[in-house]
Amino acid sequence: MYTLALETSCDETSAAVIRDGRHICSNIISTQVPIHRKFGGVVPEIASRQHIEYVLPIIREALTVAGCELEDMDHIGVTYGPGLVGALLVGVAAAKAISFAVNKPLVGVNHMEGHIFANFLSHPELEPPFLCLVVSGGHTQLVQVQDYNAFVLLGQTRDDAAGEAFDKIARVMGYPYPGGPQIDSLAKQGNAEAIVFPKALHEKHNFEFSFSGLKSAVLNYLHTLEQRGQTYVAADVAACFQKTVVETLVEKTMDAAQYSGAVKIAVAGGVSANSGLAAAMERACMEKGYTFYRPQPVLCTDNGAMIGCRAYYMARAGLFSDLTLNAKPNLAI
Ligand code: KG4
Ligand code: ZN
Repeated sequence: MYTLALETSCDETSAAVIRDGRHICSNIISTQVPIHRKFGGVVPEIASRQHIEYVLPIIREALTVAGCELEDMDHIGVTYGPGLVGALLVGVAAAKAISFAVNKPLVGVNHMEGHIFANFLSHPELEPPFLCLVVSGGHTQLVQVQDYNAFVLLGQTRDDAAGEAFDKIARVMGYPYPGGPQIDSLAKQGNAEAIVFPKALHEKHNFEFSFSGLKSAVLNYLHTLEQRGQTYVAADVAACFQKTVVETLVEKTMDAAQYSGAVKIAVAGGVSANSGLAAAMERACMEKGYTFYRPQPVLCTDNGAMIGCRAYYMARAGLFSDLTLNAKPNLAI
């Protein structure tokens, strides 16, 4: 079975061809990062226009690399939320047009579920049930994956997403968008014990997150030193901030695993590319005897392949959409 999948929820235009749900025949990703970088973050209107320009060439390339024709596809998967409404609309309109033109069923995919399913692509042996920490630029969620089409949201952030905090702090320190990878590499050279930043909501069995207080604490630290005419050690700030985020994510995930009885732990989303998070989560899982899963880095951030994998399992369960499918910017898991 072949899936053509489209992903245009934020600032990557991506199309992929997936065979039987887990084999990547092609995964073409065109990133708009260099365009948005000069504005310090994603500009929604520009993102939509770029998607319009790139979506058809990217689809053509995905089919060419896979050695397939549109007619070979069994269904068309597309992200319809959550994300930027204008950006989502481009993918949804393209997928609906293709579905109608070649008479192949349409599968509307939740972007966050797509992130979780990236784990199935990187780990052929992985089967539900498992617990997944989904950490991206817009979301921080603990999700119980009970089956391929059954998810329970245990908790999510009340305010900023983890990735948002990484991006904001990097921006104030003068690093280009997106800040997560910059903080990740800077943190490796810093002293993670130099500054103590606060942790929020760390009571047992509280699976909600809050990163706005931590973000403010780091920004206040930087501003206070600046006002005094003192310099700060960027690597130490990065290391201490990252350590605080990572400890919070790991503690809550381990607590949720114990609470839900999970023995398999996965991470997903852009922030799961973070080397400090991967190392700490792996260590914690080893101590508890859990098996740890993480997508390969290119599948952690936004890509069409993960949407294709999710679409395949939805198609197998008959979860198709019709041509009234619309973008849903606030779609919940
Ligand atoms: O999942 P994603 O590609 O897009 C969304 O759905 O939001 O995640 C993007 C986020 C950005 O905030 C980016 O800074 C963060 O993932 N990110 C990282 C790393 N790589 C990407 N954060 C920390 N460390 C990284 N290595
Ligand atoms: Zn994403």
